[in-house]
Amino acid sequence: MTKRLENKITIITGSGRGIGAACALRYGQEGAVVIVNDINAENVAKVVGQIRAAGGRAVAHPCDVTDPAQVQAMVDRAVSEFGRLDVLYANAGGSMPKNTHLTSVEEYRQIIALNQDAVFYGIHAALPVFMKQRSGLFLTTASGAGQAGVADLAAYGAAKAAVINLMRVIAVEYGGMGIRANSISPGPMGTANMRGWLATLEGGAEAFEAQVPSGRLGTEEDIAVAAAFLATDEAFFINGVCLPVDGAVSALLASPRPGKTLK
Ligand SMILES: NC(=O)c1ccc[n+]([C@@H]2O[C@H](COP(=O)([O-])OP(=O)(O)OC[C@H]3O[C@@H](n4cnc5c(N)ncnc54)[C@H](O)[C@@H]3O)[C@@H](O)[C@H]2O)c1
Repeated sequence: MTKRLENKITIITGSGRGIGAACALRYGQEGAVVIVNDINAENVAKVVGQIRAAGGRAVAHPCDVTDPAQVQAMVDRAVSEFGRLDVLYANAGGSMPKNTHLTSVEEYRQIIALNQDAVFYGIHAALPVFMKQRSGLFLTTASGAGQAGVADLAAYGAAKAAVINLMRVIAVEYGGMGIRANSISPGPMGTANMRGWLATLEGGAEAFEAQVPSGRLGTEEDIAVAAAFLATDEAFFINGVCLPVDGAVSALLASPRPGKTLK
């Protein structure tokens, strides 16, 4: 594998499993130094071990990204240990699919705290570092649910829409200082936790897959490919975008042959 991210100091939140873990492994393979973060310390240690076993460099930094002090401490550690920070990838997130009228205020706040507030805490902690360096990339894993309405995901969809625009604002405000901010918007995913939810719904994973023009559900690696590319120096002019990685789902409009692909 090419080493497009050689020596880039990178924090990836929620990288103990799923999309974040796939991105951490990919970044490690491409030469980045990965600060693996998750609230689950055991999974953090596992991913650090996998990156090192593949010849990459990684350190463990388990913490709770919904606590601004812990996020600040993580950014401070990156700078004190490695002298800089090149990428802050706010990937930690999650949903609690439920009808909106059944969602409690407490549940709404939890979802906003993890998917929206935590992304801001990272930006707030790392901006002074990026400004001093006159470089740095903020990345976040948004969602198709932040680009269009998905039933049962009111708080989650609102938070993901918010972080898509937060990245645009940062790009516009700090682009002149060499700072970039982009989001990646995964579409229909076939991840383990997604398949668990799909299995409870009518038609299961097949009904979901049938709606995807590209003919399959997405994988964690599909997202990692996009996340690695956006972190390369060649991607400097890509700033303030929300990149859908969704097999053309966000390009699709309901039509007489919705989602039909030619085979
Ligand atoms: N899987 C999908 O279908 C899908 C689709 C669109 C967007 N996304 C987004 O992609 C991102 C990753 O999702 P995933 O599918 O890999 O989920 P996942 O649940 O497998 O992984 C999320 C990780 O975040 C960690 N985490 C949760 N709360 C945390 C906290 N307070 N501090 C630190 N870490 C915390 C979890 O322990 C977990 O390891 C999320 O932002 C999610 O919203 C996922």
